[in-house]
Amino acid sequence: MVIHYRLARPSDAAAIADLHADSWRRAYRGFLSDSFLDHEVAADRAAVWRQRFHEPDPGLVTMTVVGEAHGEVHGFAHSVAADDPQWGTLLDNLHVRHDVRRLGIGTRLMAETARWLEDHGYDEGLYLWVVERNQTARHLYDAVGGRPVGSGVWDAPGGASVASLRYWWPRPSDLARRLPAGIATLGS
Ligand SMILES: CC(C)(COP(=O)(O)OP(=O)(O)OC[C@H]1O[C@@H](n2cnc3c(N)ncnc32)[C@H](O)[C@@H]1OP(=O)(O)O)[C@@H](O)C(=O)NCCC(=O)NCCS
Repeated sequence: MVIHYRLARPSDAAAIADLHADSWRRAYRGFLSDSFLDHEVAADRAAVWRQRFHEPDPGLVTMTVVGEAHGEVHGFAHSVAADDPQWGTLLDNLHVRHDVRRLGIGTRLMAETARWLEDHGYDEGLYLWVVERNQTARHLYDAVGGRPVGSGVWDAPGGASVASLRYWWPRPSDLARRLPAGIATLGS
Protein backbone atom coordinates (compact mmCIF):
# COMPACT_ATOMS: atom_id res chain seq x y z
CA MET A 1 0.00 0.00 0.00
CA VAL A 2 1.39 3.38 -0.99
CA ILE A 3 0.58 6.22 1.36
CA HIS A 4 0.64 9.76 -0.03
CA TYR A 5 1.46 12.48 2.50
CA ARG A 6 0.07 15.98 2.04
CA LEU A 7 -1.18 19.00 3.94
CA ALA A 8 -4.81 18.65 5.00
CA ARG A 9 -7.49 20.83 3.45
CA PRO A 10 -10.92 21.95 4.74
CA SER A 11 -12.63 19.18 2.77
CA ASP A 12 -10.74 16.63 4.95
CA ALA A 13 -12.36 17.88 8.18
CA ALA A 14 -15.09 15.21 8.40
CA ALA A 15 -12.79 12.28 7.53
CA ILE A 16 -10.15 13.41 10.03
CA ALA A 17 -12.80 13.89 12.74
CA ASP A 18 -14.17 10.37 12.11
CA LEU A 19 -10.69 8.83 12.39
CA HIS A 20 -9.95 10.90 15.49
CA ALA A 21 -13.16 9.75 17.20
CA ASP A 22 -12.62 6.10 16.27
CA SER A 23 -9.04 6.25 17.54
CA TRP A 24 -10.09 7.76 20.88
CA ARG A 25 -12.81 5.12 21.30
CA ARG A 26 -10.24 2.37 20.81
CA ALA A 27 -7.15 3.84 22.50
CA TYR A 28 -8.65 5.92 25.30
CA ARG A 29 -11.14 3.40 26.74
CA GLY A 30 -10.38 3.38 30.45
CA PHE A 31 -8.78 6.84 30.31
CA LEU A 32 -11.83 8.92 29.26
CA SER A 33 -15.35 8.27 30.53
CA ASP A 34 -17.33 5.48 28.86
CA SER A 35 -20.29 7.80 28.51
CA PHE A 36 -18.20 10.36 26.59
CA LEU A 37 -16.65 7.70 24.33
CA ASP A 38 -19.97 5.96 23.68
CA HIS A 39 -22.16 9.00 23.07
CA GLU A 40 -20.27 12.27 22.65
CA VAL A 41 -16.87 11.75 21.09
CA ALA A 42 -18.03 11.91 17.45
CA ALA A 43 -19.78 15.27 17.89
CA ASP A 44 -16.91 16.59 20.03
CA ARG A 45 -14.24 15.78 17.45
CA ALA A 46 -16.43 16.99 14.55
CA ALA A 47 -16.82 20.36 16.28
CA VAL A 48 -13.06 20.62 16.94
CA TRP A 49 -12.15 19.93 13.33
CA ARG A 50 -14.90 22.14 11.91
CA GLN A 51 -13.54 25.00 13.96
CA ARG A 52 -9.90 24.30 13.06
CA PHE A 53 -10.63 24.41 9.34
CA HIS A 54 -13.55 26.80 9.04
CA GLU A 55 -13.11 29.26 11.94
CA PRO A 56 -9.38 29.04 12.73
CA ASP A 57 -7.95 31.14 15.54
CA PRO A 58 -6.18 34.00 13.72
CA GLY A 59 -3.56 34.12 16.48
CA LEU A 60 -2.32 30.57 15.84
CA VAL A 61 -0.14 29.04 13.13
CA THR A 62 -1.29 25.45 12.72
CA MET A 63 -0.50 22.66 10.31
CA THR A 64 -2.13 19.30 9.71
CA VAL A 65 -0.56 16.56 7.63
CA VAL A 66 -2.54 13.54 6.45
CA GLY A 67 -1.47 10.18 5.09
CA GLU A 68 -3.86 9.07 2.38
CA ALA A 69 -4.36 5.93 0.29
CA HIS A 70 -7.16 5.16 -2.17
CA GLY A 71 -8.74 8.52 -1.34
CA GLU A 72 -9.06 7.70 2.38
CA VAL A 73 -7.29 9.31 5.32
CA HIS A 74 -5.16 6.65 7.04
CA GLY A 75 -3.51 8.92 9.60
CA PHE A 76 -2.95 12.54 10.57
CA ALA A 77 -0.82 14.80 12.72
CA HIS A 78 -1.91 18.27 13.85
CA SER A 79 0.46 20.86 15.31
CA VAL A 80 0.42 24.40 16.69
CA ALA A 81 3.66 26.14 15.73
CA ALA A 82 5.70 27.92 18.42
CA ASP A 83 2.99 27.24 20.98
CA ASP A 84 5.23 27.54 24.03
CA PRO A 85 8.26 29.79 24.59
CA GLN A 86 10.18 27.04 26.40
CA TRP A 87 9.12 23.86 24.59
CA GLY A 88 8.31 25.11 21.10
CA THR A 89 5.69 23.65 18.78
CA LEU A 90 2.87 21.53 20.19
CA LEU A 91 2.15 18.26 18.36
CA ASP A 92 -1.45 18.20 19.51
CA ASN A 93 -2.82 15.07 17.78
CA LEU A 94 -1.29 12.02 16.11
CA HIS A 95 -3.49 9.12 15.02
CA VAL A 96 -3.11 6.23 12.62
CA ARG A 97 -6.06 4.11 11.53
CA HIS A 98 -6.20 0.95 13.65
CA ASP A 99 -5.84 -1.48 10.72
CA VAL A 100 -2.65 0.06 9.31
CA ARG A 101 -0.48 0.44 12.39
CA ARG A 102 3.16 -0.65 12.71
CA LEU A 103 3.78 0.23 9.06
CA GLY A 104 5.75 3.39 9.80
CA ILE A 105 2.89 5.84 9.17
CA GLY A 106 3.08 7.43 12.63
CA THR A 107 6.83 7.94 12.30
CA ARG A 108 6.43 9.44 8.85
CA LEU A 109 3.68 11.84 9.98
CA MET A 110 5.98 13.07 12.75
CA ALA A 111 8.92 13.42 10.36
CA GLU A 112 6.82 15.32 7.79
CA THR A 113 5.60 17.64 10.53
CA ALA A 114 9.17 18.21 11.68
CA ARG A 115 10.39 19.00 8.17
CA TRP A 116 7.55 21.48 7.60
CA LEU A 117 8.44 23.18 10.89
CA GLU A 118 12.12 23.33 9.95
CA ASP A 119 11.29 24.68 6.47
CA HIS A 120 9.07 27.38 8.00
CA GLY A 121 11.59 28.55 10.61
CA TYR A 122 10.14 26.76 13.65
CA ASP A 123 13.12 24.67 14.75
CA GLU A 124 12.98 25.70 18.41
CA GLY A 125 11.60 22.48 19.86
CA LEU A 126 8.65 20.13 19.44
CA TYR A 127 6.63 18.74 22.32
CA LEU A 128 3.50 16.75 23.03
CA TRP A 129 1.47 15.37 25.91
CA VAL A 130 0.84 11.63 26.03
CA VAL A 131 -1.37 9.74 28.46
CA GLU A 132 1.03 8.13 30.91
CA ARG A 133 -0.58 4.69 30.44
CA ASN A 134 -0.58 4.94 26.63
CA GLN A 135 2.34 2.55 26.22
CA THR A 136 1.88 2.16 22.45
CA ALA A 137 2.41 5.84 21.79
CA ARG A 138 5.23 6.05 24.32
CA HIS A 139 7.03 3.21 22.50
CA LEU A 140 6.85 5.29 19.32
CA TYR A 141 8.10 8.49 21.00
CA ASP A 142 10.96 6.60 22.67
CA ALA A 143 11.81 4.97 19.32
CA VAL A 144 12.12 8.36 17.57
CA GLY A 145 14.25 10.05 20.20
CA GLY A 146 11.68 11.84 22.37
CA ARG A 147 12.65 12.75 25.92
CA PRO A 148 10.09 12.57 28.75
CA VAL A 149 10.64 15.91 30.50
CA GLY A 150 7.72 16.33 32.87
CA SER A 151 4.26 15.32 33.92
CA GLY A 152 0.87 16.94 34.10
CA VAL A 153 -2.84 16.29 34.18
CA TRP A 154 -5.03 16.41 31.06
CA ASP A 155 -8.49 17.82 31.81
CA ALA A 156 -10.04 15.73 29.07
CA PRO A 157 -13.38 16.19 27.32
CA GLY A 158 -16.07 14.28 29.18
CA GLY A 159 -14.70 15.31 32.58
CA ALA A 160 -11.79 12.88 33.15
CA SER A 161 -8.48 13.99 34.66
CA VAL A 162 -5.75 11.92 33.04
CA ALA A 163 -2.12 11.61 34.18
CA SER A 164 0.07 12.61 31.23
CA LEU A 165 3.73 13.03 30.31
CA ARG A 166 5.39 15.75 28.28
CA TYR A 167 7.74 14.44 25.58
CA TRP A 168 10.17 16.84 23.92
CA TRP A 169 12.48 16.99 20.93
CA PRO A 170 14.88 19.93 21.24
CA ARG A 171 15.22 20.26 17.46
CA PRO A 172 12.48 19.16 15.03
CA SER A 173 15.15 18.88 12.35
CA ASP A 174 16.52 15.80 14.15
CA LEU A 175 13.14 14.12 13.62
CA ALA A 176 12.96 15.31 10.03
CA ARG A 177 16.17 13.39 9.29
CA ARG A 178 14.15 10.19 9.70
CA LEU A 179 12.53 10.85 6.32
CA PRO A 180 13.82 8.62 3.54
CA ALA A 181 16.33 10.45 1.31
CA GLY A 182 14.92 12.26 -1.70
CA ILE A 183 11.31 12.55 -0.47
CA ALA A 184 9.69 15.69 -1.90
CA THR A 185 8.35 18.43 0.35
CA LEU A 186 4.69 18.04 1.31
CA GLY A 187 2.26 18.91 -1.47
CA SER A 188 -1.15 20.40 -0.86
C1 LIG B 1 0.76 5.72 18.39
C2 LIG B 1 0.47 5.53 16.90
C3 LIG B 1 0.23 6.91 16.26
C4 LIG B 1 1.69 4.86 16.25
O1 LIG B 1 1.49 4.84 14.85
P1 LIG B 1 2.15 3.70 13.92
O2 LIG B 1 1.96 4.09 12.52
O3 LIG B 1 1.62 2.36 14.32
O4 LIG B 1 3.68 3.79 14.37
P2 LIG B 1 4.97 3.30 13.55
O5 LIG B 1 4.59 2.16 12.65
O6 LIG B 1 5.59 4.49 12.91
O7 LIG B 1 5.89 2.76 14.74
C5 LIG B 1 7.23 3.17 14.88
C6 LIG B 1 7.86 2.49 16.07
O8 LIG B 1 7.15 2.84 17.26
C7 LIG B 1 7.15 1.69 18.16
N1 LIG B 1 5.77 1.19 18.29
C8 LIG B 1 4.67 1.63 17.64
N2 LIG B 1 3.58 0.92 18.03
C9 LIG B 1 4.03 0.02 18.95
C10 LIG B 1 3.39 -0.99 19.73
N3 LIG B 1 2.06 -1.23 19.63
N4 LIG B 1 4.15 -1.73 20.58
C11 LIG B 1 5.48 -1.52 20.68
N5 LIG B 1 6.16 -0.58 19.94
C12 LIG B 1 5.42 0.19 19.12
C13 LIG B 1 8.03 0.65 17.50
O9 LIG B 1 9.36 0.91 17.87
C14 LIG B 1 7.83 0.99 16.03
O10 LIG B 1 8.87 0.53 15.19
P3 LIG B 1 8.82 -1.00 14.64
O11 LIG B 1 7.44 -1.24 14.12
O12 LIG B 1 9.87 -0.98 13.55
O13 LIG B 1 9.16 -1.85 15.81
C15 LIG B 1 -0.76 4.59 16.68
O14 LIG B 1 -0.56 3.41 17.42
C16 LIG B 1 -2.07 5.21 17.11
O15 LIG B 1 -2.72 5.92 16.34
N6 LIG B 1 -2.49 4.95 18.37
C17 LIG B 1 -3.78 5.44 18.88
C18 LIG B 1 -3.79 6.94 19.08
C19 LIG B 1 -2.68 7.41 19.98
O16 LIG B 1 -2.40 6.86 21.03
N7 LIG B 1 -2.03 8.52 19.53
C20 LIG B 1 -1.00 9.17 20.28
C21 LIG B 1 -1.59 10.21 21.15
S1 LIG B 1 -0.35 11.04 22.14
